[in-house]
Amino acid sequence: MSPRILSAADPAAIAEAAAVLRRGGLVAFPTETVYGLGADAFDPRAVARVFEVKARPSFDPLIVHLASAGELARVSPTDDPRVSALAARFWPGPLTLVLPRQPEVPDLVTSGLDTVGVRVPAHPAAHALIAAAGTPVAAPSANPFGYVSPTTAAHVAELLGRSVDLVLDGGPCRVGVESTILSLATWPPVILRPGGVPREDLEDALGLSLEVAGPAERPLAPGQLLKHYATRTPLRILRGPAGHTPRPPGRVGLLAYGPTTAAAGYAVVEVLAPDASPATAAANLFAALRRLDASGLDLILAEPCDEAGLGHAIMDRLRRASAPRGADDDSQS
Ligand code: TXA
Ligand code: MG
Repeated sequence: MSPRILSAADPAAIAEAAAVLRRGGLVAFPTETVYGLGADAFDPRAVARVFEVKARPSFDPLIVHLASAGELARVSPTDDPRVSALAARFWPGPLTLVLPRQPEVPDLVTSGLDTVGVRVPAHPAAHALIAAAGTPVAAPSANPFGYVSPTTAAHVAELLGRSVDLVLDGGPCRVGVESTILSLATWPPVILRPGGVPREDLEDALGLSLEVAGPAERPLAPGQLLKHYATRTPLRILRGPAGHTPRPPGRVGLLAYGPTTAAAGYAVVEVLAPDASPATAAANLFAALRRLDASGLDLILAEPCDEAGLGHAIMDRLRRASAPRGADDDSQS
């Protein structure tokens, strides 16, 4: 059954969605990265429903979304000058900071960690919703745990159905991959998940070079679980452009990075970036994976892209989607 979907451009819809949040309900809403499944971050029962709807393991902490950086003190006592510098440059936008938490933030949000992940989303509808709700909003991506994140309201409706009280439709997400998660809770700071803000920009802002945490550094971002973002169809990353390798037998789909002349023989071809730009590729990535996954294929072959800027996040998501099935026992539901 389809959930109620309202246009995020309608102020009455925002007011209604805010009321749903205030009374403990769940609202799926657009952000510039992917759609989020939101609950009042200070209402543990509402947050518990988020885990239930996502079939998400309770060890996986949620990002808290604020209407503005000025509200940070509600969730974190930090007076770290790096936070104000990063906030001034990257908020609102696709950057999540992992910071010391206020004790009032429910354990369910942080999975009992002494840190909280915080971001200020740039999508006007997300801003309007959080401001109208008057409370920080805890929101994971609005997909069942381990599956490709939704970048349209229709994806959300299809994935979550009636288990969400309301979906705000704000059109396709501009960035298309999740936020970059930067932990300032460790020294040196570390990127827990590559995402919409390129590593190079963070390095420039902090004046140091940053590592991307490997699986050894968990707890802490189950986004790091190997098999996260999986398609149900097996996916393999090619070593180079599709024309350079023979096509395997069977019904094979191609996820081409840019315009390709190697389409012949593939059952389905998705071109991520007709203009060959990483921003276009990121914006199309999850929708293209979903279409390929729905095409009854035996295998998806993905062309690699250059690992600079948003290319880090794109290759990170493709690697996870291509991890051997069963590589994690705890990431797929
Ligand atoms: O772009 C995004 O970040 C989207 C939109 C909706 O804002 N949200 C999103 O949430 O991707 P989710 O729950 O799918 O991924 C959040 C990641 C998880 O891997 C989680 O483990 C990590 O953030 N995380 C949250 N709080 C953390 C903390 N205190 N320490 C370390 N990792 C944390
Ligand atoms: Mg997610």
